[in-house]
Amino acid sequence: MFSDKTISKAAFCLFFIFFSCMPVRADEGMWIPLLLRQNQEEMQRLGLQLSAEDIYGINHSSLKDAVVQFGGGCTGEVVSSQGLVLTNHHCGFGHIQAHSSVEHDYLTEGFWAKTLQDELPCPGLEVRFLREMRDVTGFMLEGIVPDMPEKARQDSMKARGRRLQEELEEENVEVKILPFYYGNQYYLFVYEVFKDVRLVGTPPSNIGKFGGDTDNWMWPRHTGDFSVFRIYADAGNRPAAYSPDNKPYRPERHLKIDLRGYEEGDFTFVFGYPGRTQEYLSSYGVEQILKREDPMRIAARTARLDVIKAAMEKDAKVRIQYAAKAASIANGWKKWMGEVKGIERIDVIGSKQAYEKVFSVWTESAAGKEYAGVLPALESAYAGLDPYLTSAIVFQEHLMAPEAVPFAYSFGKLCRVSKGQDTSVTLAKALADCRRKAEKFFKDYDPQVDRAVFEEMAFRVKADGTRVRIVDFAGVDMKRRLDEFYNNSLFVSKEKLFAFLDKYKAASCKVIEKDPLFVYAGEVFSAYAQTTYPFLMQGRKRIDSLQRVYMKGQMAMKESGAFAVLMREGLRNNLVLSNVGSSRFYPDANFTLRVTYGKVQGFQPADAVRYRHYTTLDGIMEKENPEVYDYVVEDKLKELHASRDYGRYANALGEMPVAFVGTNHTTGGNSGSPVLNGDGYLIGINFDRNWEGTMSDIRYDPQMCRNIMLDIRYCLFIIDKFAGATRLVEEMDIVE
Ligand code: ARG
Ligand code: GLU
Repeated sequence: MFSDKTISKAAFCLFFIFFSCMPVRADEGMWIPLLLRQNQEEMQRLGLQLSAEDIYGINHSSLKDAVVQFGGGCTGEVVSSQGLVLTNHHCGFGHIQAHSSVEHDYLTEGFWAKTLQDELPCPGLEVRFLREMRDVTGFMLEGIVPDMPEKARQDSMKARGRRLQEELEEENVEVKILPFYYGNQYYLFVYEVFKDVRLVGTPPSNIGKFGGDTDNWMWPRHTGDFSVFRIYADAGNRPAAYSPDNKPYRPERHLKIDLRGYEEGDFTFVFGYPGRTQEYLSSYGVEQILKREDPMRIAARTARLDVIKAAMEKDAKVRIQYAAKAASIANGWKKWMGEVKGIERIDVIGSKQAYEKVFSVWTESAAGKEYAGVLPALESAYAGLDPYLTSAIVFQEHLMAPEAVPFAYSFGKLCRVSKGQDTSVTLAKALADCRRKAEKFFKDYDPQVDRAVFEEMAFRVKADGTRVRIVDFAGVDMKRRLDEFYNNSLFVSKEKLFAFLDKYKAASCKVIEKDPLFVYAGEVFSAYAQTTYPFLMQGRKRIDSLQRVYMKGQMAMKESGAFAVLMREGLRNNLVLSNVGSSRFYPDANFTLRVTYGKVQGFQPADAVRYRHYTTLDGIMEKENPEVYDYVVEDKLKELHASRDYGRYANALGEMPVAFVGTNHTTGGNSGSPVLNGDGYLIGINFDRNWEGTMSDIRYDPQMCRNIMLDIRYCLFIIDKFAGATRLVEEMDIVE
């Protein structure tokens, strides 16, 4: 046990510095639904009318049965007894695009299936229901000792995981075992996987993506970011591959929709699949993100976006072709810029350093002894990783930026199949795969743009003094090389490539192997594999295993009572407390189901500026600009606005609310998550965070971090009044 005596005077001073730079803790955390009882009292105090069991029940249906993992990276919610699912427009985007063509431009016009028969199958789209989760820490860690070699540990984990999977997996049932708290705990998840999911409706992009990249990560926001899907099942209501005979799935539970709205300060919770957070890093880890990773990625993407955007402005075709690509490049770019500013603003590094000094003092006590070396070891592990991290970023953000490079490389499989080195598929199948890939690739490809990207990126790589070199452009006549690639390669011309594929025979692989871009791509990949990848992985594994010890140490320090003593002192001095020392620990996000809760609340992004907690259709009209792609407003929407024809969807002031912000702690993957009120009714769909708060993946700041949610009333207004898809609203259970 930690006693007052063991805390040196210096540590106390540090402790005060540490806590005085910490924000007030509230609303932070991504909680495991199975363990929600520990939060129940607090949630009820904040306004929850339900019990933890109502949210996640073990032997009976509960709200969790209405939440799905949507595709590989989003969340969705079931809102009718007929398997209707809501998610974000940007989550459905790929499938909406896949169904769009010049004749049926659903991206531009929107799409509303008139009847069940008109709903469009989406090959490859799956939704997962969590049927069960279980703590399997005891089983997974049995016989694992602290100084066991990492490899043996990993092997044992894998074998045990596989045993559980073999035992429980069956058709359409997937079992995953995932580490929590960096491998100090393990949970098992049983998912039921539905593979026949159909597109039911989507607003036009100038509603679903209103504000585009200009408004992305920003508040005030006016994006109608939703789309509608339906899950289908076989005659027995079981998951099945697509078949025209499948019927709408009858779910165990669907959410009720509440049109009564909210006031500032009202309780909300978000129930979904947050992807990744890193709240328990050391100052060394945060420093690497802040000083190395984010700035390098931001600079590379700034340069790449400059090239792409200039081309988009010049040519309408390029604008369409590169819209989605630019959006996805810009999404991370903008987020990292906000992250850097946020980390600096609240001095995450300084407060972590202060915390680490307290931790180090604690490791001098008997209880903390076993963690004594972990921080210095982490420091040196990050230093060791740095050159490889740097070259990996050069690879990802520069060398892979010209799209023809990874595209050319992907034809290696066709060669290997042609030569009998790969027998996993037949030659005909490999060829068909290549054609499909090429169709998709060239639909949105412009070789001039790609060449300009290549040139810019090569210039940057040349100028960069990175220690580990993957390719060296020094002394290369870039113009000649680019002429060779972009005039002669098969992989930049649809005509040439298809003419070649049309006559393809096994022996034709020689042509691929001589192609200048294919040769170059092969060199880049193999140089990456030799100079960087294995060392990067080694370094990451080393950090992971140290982080596991550090995490355990952080938890042990809190449990030992040492921190309680420090905290009492802090409270007596009116100091504010942080998550790390003062409250329950929650595991970092890992794309498993979590509950996060907070309240509807505006914020102050800057001195003298205060943002209200919701936006309205009036704001869409304020932003309207027919000249600017991101701010075009449909005539129909203008008419509805002009006549204030909002029906039952208006708020008490007669306004049409569009989006709102709250203090729920969310991250990527929470897109599409249901936002519920104290009664457990659906009031919104989560779709973004504010730019000022994107550092919440590393440190949550309740003053500044907000999640952005679509108001369910705007969603229903668009479905009902704008699109006239009343059959969908009739299916829903609405509370007024
Ligand atoms: N920022 C949101 C997220 O991280 C939305 C991204 C899609 N929208 C866009 N304009 N790119 O996923
Ligand atoms: N738009 C994000 C997503 O696709 C959610 C925003 C965030 O990162 O919080 O999951």
